Amino acid sequence: MSRFAYVGGRYLRHRAATVSIDDRGFQFGDGAYEVMAVHRGFPVDQVLHLQRLYRSLAELQIAEPVDRRALPVILDRVLSLNRVCEGLLYLQVTRGAARRDHVFPKAATPMLLVTARRVPPVPPVVIRDGVAVISIPDQRWARCDIKSLNLLPNVLGKQQARAAGAFEAWQVDTEGMVTEGASTNAWIVTEDGALMTRPADHAILNGVTRQVILRQATEFGLRLVERPFSLGQAKSATEAFLTSTTSLVLPVTRIDEVPIGDGRPGPVAQGLRARLLLLLNEEIGRQSP
Ligand code: PDD
Repeated sequence: MSRFAYVGGRYLRHRAATVSIDDRGFQFGDGAYEVMAVHRGFPVDQVLHLQRLYRSLAELQIAEPVDRRALPVILDRVLSLNRVCEGLLYLQVTRGAARRDHVFPKAATPMLLVTARRVPPVPPVVIRDGVAVISIPDQRWARCDIKSLNLLPNVLGKQQARAAGAFEAWQVDTEGMVTEGASTNAWIVTEDGALMTRPADHAILNGVTRQVILRQATEFGLRLVERPFSLGQAKSATEAFLTSTTSLVLPVTRIDEVPIGDGRPGPVAQGLRARLLLLLNEEIGRQSP
């Protein structure tokens, strides 16, 4: 089956879908993106993802590429053209194409790209056994709250994790505090029963999954502490886990080969994962005819 993309105002087959060699996303990483999960044919937490996209664009001073009411229509069309029921939607907005020059071009039209693809669910064994994480120095810039296209440190970190047989790389700042994973947010449950994650400062992306979990955690009767935690605290935590659109909640059972807790996925991570799946089905249920 052909795959379709929305590129610069048109729905095109992937083979025909191209962008200019002068596009500033290609030249400078001058743009922002979002990844949404698709469940039963609907984008999950679309409102939160689009809010974050508009925030990223405002921070980068990139104009919104299409009317706000038109964007969900485009997303739906890309999903149905690709017949995606379970998978991912990818949106990218760049400052547009212009002769290469660092300063903003006087006249460039922001370029919107939307693709969608089917993705199989996380294998049950991964949820049952949890995942391993390595730690690496955080080498990124000071505005990681913007979901910009510049992902080189994240790409290198993820590759380093894969090469070490791990799923994710937790980045550690110069103070020894964990910021976040290469493409996920980081959480621990401390010995005294607090659920701890870094506050949404400029050092991390405020994950949509993170935001949803923060709302749920108190209902779980967990004491929530939004405070940075150190790598040492993470290694001696009762539980650790990571969150993202693509992995939802995944228990972390090893950090740098150190087993976390008893080395098995813990009840908080498992409970939050189950809770999120329930919420997701409720949300989609409300949208289905
Ligand atoms: N990554 N931190 C970083 C650096 C991320 O890139 C992501 C998302 C997250 C989690 O955010 P959310 O819960 O909104 O997915 C945290 C996406 C999935 C990606 O780049 O593919």
